[in-house]
Amino acid sequence: MKEQLIALEQEALAAIAEACDLQSLEDLRVRFLGKKGAVTAILKQMGGLSPEERPKIGQFANALSEKLTAALGVRRTALEAEALDKQLAEEKLDITIPGKREAVGKQHVMKKTLDEALDIFIGMGFSVAEGPEVELSANVFDKLGTPEGHPSRDWGDTFYFDRESQYVLRTHTSAVQVRVMENQKPPIRVVSPGRVYRKDEVDATHSPMFHQIEGLVVDKGITMADLKGTLNALVGQLYGQETKTRFRPHHFPFTEPSCEVDCRCFKCRGKGCPMCKGEGWIELLGSGMVHPNVLRVCGIDPDVYSGFAFGIGLDRMTMMRYNISDLRLIFENDLRFLRQF
Ligand code: DAH
Repeated sequence: MKEQLIALEQEALAAIAEACDLQSLEDLRVRFLGKKGAVTAILKQMGGLSPEERPKIGQFANALSEKLTAALGVRRTALEAEALDKQLAEEKLDITIPGKREAVGKQHVMKKTLDEALDIFIGMGFSVAEGPEVELSANVFDKLGTPEGHPSRDWGDTFYFDRESQYVLRTHTSAVQVRVMENQKPPIRVVSPGRVYRKDEVDATHSPMFHQIEGLVVDKGITMADLKGTLNALVGQLYGQETKTRFRPHHFPFTEPSCEVDCRCFKCRGKGCPMCKGEGWIELLGSGMVHPNVLRVCGIDPDVYSGFAFGIGLDRMTMMRYNISDLRLIFENDLRFLRQF
């Protein structure tokens, strides 16, 4: 029986040493040490031994069990380490590989200027109104004091949509004034930014599509002083509080009186430079007191209410703020240009 046990030991140790994964190791444990295993099977035959032999064989068998248990443990540790090494090798993450960079866009320089201007207006209590780019001629012209026959309605200057000239690509954002006054009761305090269109040839300062910000305030007792105060506040915040303004008489069909507003050149402070073309002043916007006829056709009683309006060229304003010499750069979408702002 001892020989049997010795043979079993050799067979078992060899098999354990060769086990190549944890499952086959577990199978070996069951095969040799399990309840129905080989060692147990031999021990069951101990009944046939002599009383002297029995304890010796018993001891030998116990020692064998311990030996095999220990061998299984050693092999298990080794196999587990191997498995871990394999897993680590397979899941290796090379953190030195450069990542994939997502291209992040940024605001267009003109949108930036617009947001700066809107911030200032919103700070003064204005809200933002919108109007369509394809507009009724009535809103663009008729209701704003430019009846049939007025030169600014000329087919050579304006993009019409139909033979009857009922619809146009709006030539100015002033049309939004009409929409607001027809739909809203005073007090009114709105600005309205957007695209406008005229049949202009493209050059460094002209484009058939450009941008304006319209402003409109209507309430009881609004005077020229409110117009000046509001526009002075705007210029102060845009170009610095010390920047002087100049209100020059002008004519617009929808305001009376009308003026153009200039500011002291913020580049040369009035001495004269290429920025202000030697003038010392830079033209900023058109404005005036809303014409009583305009209030009336829009359903507002001019004997009760008065108002002022203004129109700012956003493209020009952007060019001046960021020292851009050619309007075309703003629309060409060349990233080398746009990235600079
Ligand atoms: N709509 C005028 C233009 O396109 C600009 C303008 C002038 C707007 C005077 C106004 C204003 O609201 O009061 O040239």
